[in-house]
Amino acid sequence: MSATTPSCPTAIRGPALTFTGDPFRDGLDKTMVHEPDAIVAMDHGRITHFGPADRVLPQLPAGTEIRDFGKDALISAGFIDTHVHFPQTPMMAAYGAQLLDWLNQYTFPAELKFADKEYARMVARAFLRENLRNGITTACVYCTVHPHSVDVLFEEAEKLGLRLAAGKAMMDRNAPEALSDTPQSSYDQSKALIAKWHGRGRLLYAITPRYAGSSSPEQLAMAGALWREHADCLMQTHIAETRQEVAWIKELFPDRRDYLDVYDHHGLCGQRAVFGHGIWLGEPELQRLHDCGAAISHCPTSNFFLGSGAFNLARALKAERPVRVGLGTDIGAGTSFSILATLGEAYKAAQLNQQSLSAGHAYYLATRGSARAMYLDDRIGSIAPGMEADLVVLDMRSTPLIDFRMDFARDFAEQLFIQMTLGDDRAVQATYVVGRLAHERGDGPAARVT
Ligand code: GUN
Ligand code: ZN
Repeated sequence: MSATTPSCPTAIRGPALTFTGDPFRDGLDKTMVHEPDAIVAMDHGRITHFGPADRVLPQLPAGTEIRDFGKDALISAGFIDTHVHFPQTPMMAAYGAQLLDWLNQYTFPAELKFADKEYARMVARAFLRENLRNGITTACVYCTVHPHSVDVLFEEAEKLGLRLAAGKAMMDRNAPEALSDTPQSSYDQSKALIAKWHGRGRLLYAITPRYAGSSSPEQLAMAGALWREHADCLMQTHIAETRQEVAWIKELFPDRRDYLDVYDHHGLCGQRAVFGHGIWLGEPELQRLHDCGAAISHCPTSNFFLGSGAFNLARALKAERPVRVGLGTDIGAGTSFSILATLGEAYKAAQLNQQSLSAGHAYYLATRGSARAMYLDDRIGSIAPGMEADLVVLDMRSTPLIDFRMDFARDFAEQLFIQMTLGDDRAVQATYVVGRLAHERGDGPAARVT
């Protein structure tokens, strides 16, 4: 797949979990595959074989190196983060404010520092290191308003062979002067970045009008025009994150029916759109998201941290008009790069809505479900021959407490649920990107930012 893709067959062995379909629609029985002793073989960056070890072993080419992770491991498709701000890595855990004040007090000052390209590169490297340490092999990433913030992220991602989507934030109002572009400059800069990066290797461009609060109608119209010209790009923005924000957007766009209509009116609703949060969407908006094939990114740690609310997952997935939903860390309002921790908070968000989120459904959300939200489920998000070889290997006994607790687990579902409730980055033993070991817990090659 790329010049650096290994061309000799390798394989890993251990228990494995993947999905062949959508458990929210068709049930776990029909869609979840748990193989207690599996082989996943890879060559030229793709999965070549997957199945029970006794069946796959005789099929492997002579000389295939097999690494056995043992019975306490779990091999999964790499995790996918559908909403994250890499420039906010240095300001995670900013105290004491809700969304609109948090943006002004902490976020914009942090993003101003990205005028310095080498600072931006240093943060991009730390961000990608954390992704790999947490088993995240694909993310949909917001950069800052500075085009070079996109360049450095893509340059660093390309070195690692990552499949990554990202885009320059378009913002022309309600932000500091030095973080503001114009409708025309944001269009021109984004278009140049698309020409440079979209479809180069595994990289994808996401057109990124930050949100309706920081884009004029003219800028949203330019973003819509750009997306029409480059319809195979993703489009990402924020929607209905807090009630205060929803009320403010109504004031800014008095002629629009609702928050989604602000985007829809400007041509920003369709397949490959990923809307962050969506906690306070109404029924007509959910129906429209379903109709146009757009996705919501559920960002529970962020929503709890900023006090934004508890996303109603079951409502978004209502059988008559299911909306595509992926999982997002939303760093730096989000409080963890750990997808396990994020799933633990997704469970609590469901609890606050008097629902429950089973571990099986949760792992689907973090893998195949998120791939589907980004229209990438034909390439990533599950383990099957032909899929790109992005994998995470979990250690199911990663801490003394988890080790102790696992002895009392009655079945696999409970074992999985323990991981998402008690686990974190320590549970990620190894991360494979495009068939190559990209991170190994401890002193692996990606453990340091140099
Ligand atoms: N809305 C607009 N920008 C942002 C951001 O950076 N983070 C979050 N959580 N919400 C936003
Ligand atoms: Zn966000």
